[in-house]
Amino acid sequence: MKFLSAKLAATNEIIMAEDLFKQVISHSKEYGFVFQSSEIYDGLSAVYDYGQQGVALKNNLRDYWWKAMTQMNENIVGIDTAIFMHPTIWKASGHVDAFSDPLIDNKDSKKRYRADVLIEDYIEKVRGKIAKEVKKATKRFGDSFNEAEFISTNGRVVEYYEKIKSIEDRMRVGLDDGNLGDIKTLIEDLEIACPISGSRNWTDVRQFNLMFDTDMGSVTDDSSKIYLRPETAQGIFVNYLNVQKTGRMKIPFGIAQTGKAFRNEIVARQFIFRMREFEQMEMQFFVKPGTEMEWYETWKATRMKWHEALGFGSESYRFHDHIKMAHYANAAADIEFDFPFGFKELEGIHSRTDFDLKQHEEHSGKKLQYFDPEENKSYVPYVVETSIGLDRLFLGVLSKSLEEEKLEDGSSRVVLKLPAFLAPSKLAILPLIKKDGLPEKGHEILNTLKYSFQCSYDEKDSIGKRYRRNDALGTPYCVTIDHQSLEDNTVTLRDRDTMQQERVSINALETLIAKKVNVSEVLRRL
Ligand code: GAP
Repeated sequence: MKFLSAKLAATNEIIMAEDLFKQVISHSKEYGFVFQSSEIYDGLSAVYDYGQQGVALKNNLRDYWWKAMTQMNENIVGIDTAIFMHPTIWKASGHVDAFSDPLIDNKDSKKRYRADVLIEDYIEKVRGKIAKEVKKATKRFGDSFNEAEFISTNGRVVEYYEKIKSIEDRMRVGLDDGNLGDIKTLIEDLEIACPISGSRNWTDVRQFNLMFDTDMGSVTDDSSKIYLRPETAQGIFVNYLNVQKTGRMKIPFGIAQTGKAFRNEIVARQFIFRMREFEQMEMQFFVKPGTEMEWYETWKATRMKWHEALGFGSESYRFHDHIKMAHYANAAADIEFDFPFGFKELEGIHSRTDFDLKQHEEHSGKKLQYFDPEENKSYVPYVVETSIGLDRLFLGVLSKSLEEEKLEDGSSRVVLKLPAFLAPSKLAILPLIKKDGLPEKGHEILNTLKYSFQCSYDEKDSIGKRYRRNDALGTPYCVTIDHQSLEDNTVTLRDRDTMQQERVSINALETLIAKKVNVSEVLRRL
């Protein structure tokens, strides 16, 4: 049985999804994937540490992204810029003035919410009602059911859609105009109550800047104030000419970067989904003005393909076009993922125009133009950005991979069916017993194979327990060394997913396993 199967009745689905999410969190802790930061001091809200297994999975995910960007594209290069940057960069980028969320407090529960999220959650409930109507009608009409016709003609469904549109329109206008009074009125009109206190006793909505700041140097005054970067992208923008010139890059070209970003999130919850310190993987693609929409569509498709190559099924992803555009974008879409708590943003693809580069020209007084030899003229390039949170990707992969399986003998096992190339350890080397030269043979195998892929060695507990532990860690293969191994140089090779075992020559192990656990096979599918 999977913790979560795709088609369950609505309420069951929610309960199962909650169970899955709890399982993911406890599994993460129990097996050394993710720990609460500063746990012995009762933790620090929305900050997490990666354990010995987690760091390996995270590195493998980052490596998959990095290689897909920089190794698979001859016109994309990577850089690594500092977290601290000149404070004027954040003025130029618009983050000092506009990187804020609309905040609202419930006076009874004293809980703080993002006003737009309260409204979006309300819209999601209305969408749920539409889905229920469609489901009922599917049952009633059977094979003759025409969903498109039903949605466009059924009175109740049409009314729900009109309601959603009217709410979205009011929210967009309120947010775009910065009219926070209207946002509060919308919350009141929709009779949205605090999920904790159940009351509608709300404060006014106000803007809250998400950037952390600190002081650089020994003197504390306004001039020493610097920010912890809220996105890695600006490090790319301010270096774009350095890279273009030293790398002799010709437009279109991309610059990729991975690294920490920091945001003082108002509502930081859902484990590593929304953190105050997190890691981004961003790529800015510099293009000729006027071609940006073409590239925007290309990158949307390319990024979706990258996600789908992980093998979790295309139904786990969907695009969501933004209602409210970030201050720098003229087109933006999210790739949403089916997390245990529903479809949520995993990656953003933005057409950022020439906003950032023009702003940096203005604030730095330096020209940031590119000379196009084909056009024989200079211009400020347009930029299409892909931006994904590594921690969110980690959470998505972990939750889709975690399963509880009922076995034929009536027992069950917890297995982490990670794509093999992402697994922290690719091969567990397990001597059947701790004597008779079996551990020595095990170490001999380890010392041969460790040059090709990550292996682990374990001689503690019964072999059955060690198999279960490796299932839970996501190790795709285990080899068991027994007395026969000493005689004929063979071992049993066990497959995590099928639990099938076969006797193979030790000399054949490397070729057998390397192909299945190597990222290059996945890159070939892109
Ligand atoms: N440079 C563009 C940018 O930063 P964004 O949509 O704000 O765009 C990009 O962020 C991605 O970063 C998101 O899709 C998400 O995966 C991740 N992200 C953003 N805020 C996060 C947070 N508080 N915790 C974890 N991941 C976050």
